[in-house]
Amino acid sequence: MHRLTHWLLPLAAILTPAATAAAQDSAPPRLESRNGQHALIVDGKPFLMLGAQVNNSANYPDMLPEVWPAIEKMHANTVEVPIGWQQIEPEEGKFDFSFLDALLPQARERNLRLVLLWFGTWKNTAPSYAPDWVKLDQKRFPHMINAKGEVHYALSPHYRSTLEADKRAFVRLMEYLKKHDPQHTVIMIQPQNEPGSYGSVRDFSPVAQKLFDGQVPAPLLKQMKKKPGSWREVFGSDADEFFHAWSIASYTNEIAAAGKAVMPLPMYMNAALAAAFGRQPASTYSSGGPVHHVIDVYKAAAPAIDIVAPDIYARDHAAYMAYLGYYDRPDNALFVPETGNDKDFARYFFPAVGMGAIGFAPFGMDYTGYYNFPLGAKDLDDATMEMFARNYRLFAPMQREWAEWAAQGKTWGVAEPTDPKAQHAQHIDMGKYNMTVTFGQWQFGTDKPTGNPEPSGGVAVAQLGENEFLVTGFRSRVYFGLSKPAPLESMMLLRVEEGHFDHGKWIFRRLWNGDSVDYGLNFTDREQVLRVKLVTYKGTPPIPVGNPN
Ligand code: DGJ
Repeated sequence: MHRLTHWLLPLAAILTPAATAAAQDSAPPRLESRNGQHALIVDGKPFLMLGAQVNNSANYPDMLPEVWPAIEKMHANTVEVPIGWQQIEPEEGKFDFSFLDALLPQARERNLRLVLLWFGTWKNTAPSYAPDWVKLDQKRFPHMINAKGEVHYALSPHYRSTLEADKRAFVRLMEYLKKHDPQHTVIMIQPQNEPGSYGSVRDFSPVAQKLFDGQVPAPLLKQMKKKPGSWREVFGSDADEFFHAWSIASYTNEIAAAGKAVMPLPMYMNAALAAAFGRQPASTYSSGGPVHHVIDVYKAAAPAIDIVAPDIYARDHAAYMAYLGYYDRPDNALFVPETGNDKDFARYFFPAVGMGAIGFAPFGMDYTGYYNFPLGAKDLDDATMEMFARNYRLFAPMQREWAEWAAQGKTWGVAEPTDPKAQHAQHIDMGKYNMTVTFGQWQFGTDKPTGNPEPSGGVAVAQLGENEFLVTGFRSRVYFGLSKPAPLESMMLLRVEEGHFDHGKWIFRRLWNGDSVDYGLNFTDREQVLRVKLVTYKGTPPIPVGNPN
């Protein structure tokens, strides 16, 4: 029996189909946070977004036949799709929602949910998706000015004219959803896309300078526990970037709040990341965007933004894990709205969902013929697609249960490391028990882990009770251990069931025993979910012992 307290509903209500239907509510999706853990609530229950983001120019009805086959092959339950400002308001005040007229019913037919990406004032910092009438009128929609006094390519966050124009279009989009999406096919909105500016840490125009010379706003002082003063006085060498982040976050907050007043969907902003370790000059990354060292600025400036989220294209294991850690906070739900779609990124799904991410979405998942290599794959061939598809096939039957366990803080996960110091192993501390996960061992015996030929292993584990765990993964070996054994205290695997979830019910397939468990639990390329019961006893550990611990 499940011993943990449940997120929203008693266990029976979650695990029986009838109760599931009864529990569904028609309230809009929302983000709920308790005790520093988070859940995206969709149809009244925690939801794990098995996501995919389409390429930038896939946002036209004609492209959808090249999108759906990839999404289906991937077994995603949610698709992230751009909506360009230029697309819905090509002429000022004249709106065209024909793409959404096509997108929404086609997604519903396929039982898919959507996340809409508002490419407005900033798309990868530039105004590329702003309508022509915005691009061509720098007087009404001023650009930033760099420190040398030159006009910068990015729109400035300091002008009401730009903010009001973006807000008006965004509100129209939300009004469209209120009218045309009562069933909440759209579960989340991303206002702006990777905002900030490259090449200039902030706007140096006289309008911006006047604000910069003024006092730091009180909510930011409170968030960062600082005494009043000017930006420079309070933040020293960080002042320019923090000021810019505050300005962009406040600007987008006003737009998001106006949209939420129409239709209160969860909203998040995504970051083009700064270096994972150390600080580089702010002019070299998207200064002012929600990079990890300004999350507090966004939290203070943008209460209408529920989440700030990392777009993770770093292939390096240490960097990837660091980014997940930076954005996984009691005041910020972890969500990976973009990641590379090359094979080596697929394994990072496991630590992401293990850390309780509400969703994960590789970028460029369509057959429109565009590939963003070297960020992602050179080609979305079947072998590449399969690396992502198998993760989602594995989790789709239990995504609701997983989201619930994650919301209780009872999930963990690891990906195969590449740093030689890690010796092809990862450790997870689950309290009373721990886990060692190795990569590149035969299934029998105690050979040294050598790593897989390509980094591709991953494991995720959820605690179901004091001595019971659900564990799954690929290309790895799992050993359970006791964290602090008393003298002569040992543990053994009482029962290892392979099975799967079906509408909340655990379906038993077989027991793993003998060779299958004597040298750890070996996950291969097969999709296998194990339910493991452990027991402790007084005595020596069982032999053979595969656990290197
Ligand atoms: C991150 C952006 O958010 C995406 O829209 C896209 O431009 C990728 N970078 C690169 O393909």
